[in-house]
Amino acid sequence: MKETYRQLLAAACEARLRSYSPYSNFRVGAALLADSGVVYQGTNVENASIGLSICAERTAVCRAVAEGETSFTAIAICADGTLPTPPCGACRQFLLEFGRDLTVLLAGDGGPAGEVRQYTLGELIPHAFETYVDNGAAAPGDPKGTS
Ligand code: THU
Repeated sequence: MKETYRQLLAAACEARLRSYSPYSNFRVGAALLADSGVVYQGTNVENASIGLSICAERTAVCRAVAEGETSFTAIAICADGTLPTPPCGACRQFLLEFGRDLTVLLAGDGGPAGEVRQYTLGELIPHAFETYVDNGAAAPGDPKGTS
């Protein structure tokens, strides 16, 4: 595995330890690598009104976008349990907004030392909903609508 990916998985596992998940007790961490080279970490943040809880992946995306980033290379996700946990459907769709070539790295709580799976986002969400693609407005992977 590339050293960059190993570090990204380690950053996701570190973020997982800051998860706020008193309702599920299921800690998830994410680390999103922007083209700028900056890594944005996220954790799941739960709420007493359960449906308001947000996943680690979307927290990382929101942090990055709030800092002005919209181009990403890879995201690492590290969840409790020995086996890698794939991202939920909502997070796949949310990530797709910024391109389907994103590398998605998954690890369990052993991090890069345990079982690791690697996909592209496009593999994880085939036949996705992509709005406005036919009328020249913004499209996923082309957020400024330039194509
Ligand atoms: N969770 C994530 O953070 N990412 C996912 O892709 C799946 C689920 C969180 C949400 C909730 O806080 C907990 O895991 C249990 O579903």
